[in-house]
Amino acid sequence: MSLTADDRPFEDFHSRHPPFPSFFNVNHSSEPSPDNAGQTAITQSDSTGPDQGMTSENTDSDLTRTHIKSFVRRRGHISDAQKRHFEANLPLWGIPFQTNALDAAAIFGRQAPCWLEIGFGMGETTARIASAHPDVNYLGVEVFTAGVGALLKRIEEQSIRNIRIINHDVVEVLRDMIPDGSLQRVMIYFPDPWPKARHHKRRLIQPPFIASLVPKLAPGGILHCATDWEHYAFQMLEVLSAEKGLRNTVAEGFAPRPDTRPLTKFENRGIKLGHGVWDLLFERI
Ligand SMILES: C[S@@+](CC[C@H](N)C(=O)[O-])C[C@H]1O[C@@H](n2cnc3c(N)ncnc32)[C@H](O)[C@@H]1O
Repeated sequence: MSLTADDRPFEDFHSRHPPFPSFFNVNHSSEPSPDNAGQTAITQSDSTGPDQGMTSENTDSDLTRTHIKSFVRRRGHISDAQKRHFEANLPLWGIPFQTNALDAAAIFGRQAPCWLEIGFGMGETTARIASAHPDVNYLGVEVFTAGVGALLKRIEEQSIRNIRIINHDVVEVLRDMIPDGSLQRVMIYFPDPWPKARHHKRRLIQPPFIASLVPKLAPGGILHCATDWEHYAFQMLEVLSAEKGLRNTVAEGFAPRPDTRPLTKFENRGIKLGHGVWDLLFERI
């Protein structure tokens, strides 16, 4: 499938959230373009490609066998600092993708409630939540190398010790690494909205993905999603409401933003400009 510069999954989000300028430099052909020429080209693929990790012995559901990626392979800009932190600190705070179930207590060196954040971007919110909840074992999953480097930098600079990072497609992470009933909270904040109708199939929040995620939550565990894209917000509401393993924590519809999700300066700016943000808080039955 060929995507053009106008086919960004996140144009509206990023027009309001300037810390991700590199997302505008998506180069789907993996060749330098006028937009990203001269920027540091990371040789490691910046995301898991469509064929990676799809081993024949792990074809236990249609979702993982044929799933359409919610992200695009790209060579994005990565700063020298992000690259340095990625290379030096991922071995310290990263968990390599594996096809065996994760033992969180062994990895974190303690028994504690485990929270999972999917698609943490540059990790600003991640660092704030994990710092505010030192008693939580915090797993962050992200495919974007510069974002992983940025979060590793925050971890080092702020001496945060309760985050571990998995740099891989979350669909496969859930399938292979996360034991059933092991998560107390899952957070999906501002996932790529894929605004064009023909790309909606790439949106992360869809029935098969949610069906794969819900068993990973412990009973009473919370799934918290947020988006600033209205059409996606209503899609999320429909998908989560239809999932039998979930119950809305509010009587109906969207929830007020809970304190667990900090307000970022970019979201604050958007709110001042009249842009909406929708939170969804569902509980595992
Ligand atoms: C629009 S950004 C939002 C970042 C962050 N949550 C925030 O609120 O600022 C969405 C992020 O999800 C990541 N992402 C998309 N699909 C993913 C997947 N299947 N597995 C892991 N990360 C994914 C993208 O790389 C991107 O960084």
